[in-house]
Amino acid sequence: MPTKILVIGACGQIGTELTMRLREIHGNDHVIAGDIREGNEMLMKSGPFEIMDAMDADKVENICLHYEVEEVYLMAAMLSATGEKFPDKAWKLNMNSLFNVLDLAKEGKINKIFWPSSIAVFGPTTPKTNTPQHTIMEPSTVYGISKQTGERWCEYYHEKYGVDVRSIRYPGLISWQTLPGGGTTDYAIDIFHQALENNSYTSFLSENTALPMMYMEDALRATLEIMDAPADQVKVRSSYNLSGMSFTPAELANQIKKHLPDFSINYEPDSRQQIADSWPSSIEDTAAREDWKWTARYDLEKVVVEMLEHLK
Ligand code: SER
Repeated sequence: MPTKILVIGACGQIGTELTMRLREIHGNDHVIAGDIREGNEMLMKSGPFEIMDAMDADKVENICLHYEVEEVYLMAAMLSATGEKFPDKAWKLNMNSLFNVLDLAKEGKINKIFWPSSIAVFGPTTPKTNTPQHTIMEPSTVYGISKQTGERWCEYYHEKYGVDVRSIRYPGLISWQTLPGGGTTDYAIDIFHQALENNSYTSFLSENTALPMMYMEDALRATLEIMDAPADQVKVRSSYNLSGMSFTPAELANQIKKHLPDFSINYEPDSRQQIADSWPSSIEDTAAREDWKWTARYDLEKVVVEMLEHLK
């Protein structure tokens, strides 16, 4: 029997590709895309779509019951940079949407949840390099606070109510299909678009700001793998560290120059620099490797080749 799945936030950077991937696996009609706005044509035409506000508990429940949804992927969220502009809205969206799906699972109306966390759960007092799974977490952005709080609630619902919720701390995600929105790591996507259009880029992060990053292909595979893993192998029920690669704007620019020799970059750090400075520069992910056999496949060189090829 194919699984009935709802993706909330299906039109975003991750949601779009995740929905298409899930439709390939489970069949188009079994994967319902939900978002507050319509998405690209491919997504809209390939299967069921519902306009929904992730904060609207009744709407989320009605859609789950109507389609007999078993699994929910909750991808709707306000990211770090936008969250700093609208702290109140970010908190409400990120928390209310999570409680809506956690409560549905607690009441036995759905069976399984995927909810992404982020490297933003870490803060200025966290060890910066090879940041371990369990460490100091004092996030300084609203987005980070909401993700850290969300992690605590996921673990709580798992322990107290047996809710099968699974989570990954995504690094900055690099992809070409759908643009990201409002994140601090977005520069690593903007740079490719600008390189191909103008042969130059003004980075809003400084030259030597190293951040953990991952290619979308790896992130999607990690998401599907953790959801497929037997429940007893998913031992961390807050959220797993996940490592792909780590690089600075200068290193990324140098790699792009290998393909576009005239490409130039300059640096004009803005308010997002402070956010980036509070995050780790690299992540240690032994727990994910051991528990559900995670391993990344893309390094910076490979990502640059793929991004330029697809965006050309
Ligand atoms: N990519 C996100 C951001 O920059 C981090 O999870 O906000």
